[in-house]
Amino acid sequence: MRFPTRIRIVEVGPRDGLQNEAKPVPVAVKVELINRLSESGLAAIESGSFVSPKWVPQMAATSEVMAAIKRRPGVSYPVLTPNLQGLEAALEARVEEVAVFAAASETFSQKNINCSIAESLDRFAPVAARARAEGLRVRGYVSCVLGCPYEGAITPLAVAEVAGKLAAMGCYEISLGDTVGTGTPTKALAMIDAVAARLPVEMLAAHFHDTYGQALANLLAVMERGVAVMDASVAGLGGCPYAKGAAGNVATEDLLYMLDGMGIQTGIDLDRLMAAGNFISRALDRPSGSKVARARGN
Ligand code: HMG
Ligand code: MG
Repeated sequence: MRFPTRIRIVEVGPRDGLQNEAKPVPVAVKVELINRLSESGLAAIESGSFVSPKWVPQMAATSEVMAAIKRRPGVSYPVLTPNLQGLEAALEARVEEVAVFAAASETFSQKNINCSIAESLDRFAPVAARARAEGLRVRGYVSCVLGCPYEGAITPLAVAEVAGKLAAMGCYEISLGDTVGTGTPTKALAMIDAVAARLPVEMLAAHFHDTYGQALANLLAVMERGVAVMDASVAGLGGCPYAKGAAGNVATEDLLYMLDGMGIQTGIDLDRLMAAGNFISRALDRPSGSKVARARGN
């Protein structure tokens, strides 16, 4: 079996992890979490969303968070921007990267961003064009790549079509989201194969939620196909407000432990990462969702 020698981990805990928290998480806690994550060697930390505060109240203070974090050279702090209004806020916050987020399921698209897939792509095109004209990098997400909480099965072809359209509008990377975490390795492989038939595998990232405990197995499977970018959430925080019951992404600590054990380079220090995970778990007053953190008694 051949695996990539280096994996880029995109930390999504401060955004995907915290967006679903019922109680408001203070700005100071978010800032300290992001600063601690920056010190672990992570090079990409998704730090918030410029979305409607009525839809996702927990992300309402993203401007304040972005103004207060200590930006470490070489680290990017991307944010989600669903429309031009969000992009304006992101530009004011001096981000280097934004993400637009589409879905491979019509129903999920309606529930998440209140429009059809086609309408969302029409809305993202000017966002991507303007962002790129301002020198920003644009990442594209596709949700529900291995199943939808409303529609059930989603075909690999539906995923590949949306991924191709996001790439055509200038997204440098397409993050493929198993939003509900129901996927299994063979399904994940079929999905990656369909997308990789249209786009270079180097452009693809895996964003797997761990609701059914399949995320690490699915990540290992797609690594065999050369996928070398993985999204993860420190302490396993999170879930999507529009995918009821969905758990967080694979815990960053657990992914890093696996990659370290396989001799795969990431540039991230596990002890420092665990310190960040333990900090946020204490702040939220709950045990860490990372098995590695629990095994080490934190
Ligand atoms: P809408 O209601 O259709 O939009 O929402 P609208 O343009 O008609 O605007 C309605 C109101 O929202 C207006 O305010 C706008 O100003 C405001 P009002 O006049 O009523 O007071 N508004 C905004 N405010 C701040 N920032 C903005 C913005 N845009 C409009 N950017 C919209 C459409 C997309 C805005 C809405 O549906 C929304 O914000 N949805 C939230 C989606 C979201 O954040 N979901 C979670 C993240 S996605 C995810 O977790 C999946 C992922 O992790 C991958 C995976 O796991 O699969 C990425
Ligand atoms: Mg997600």
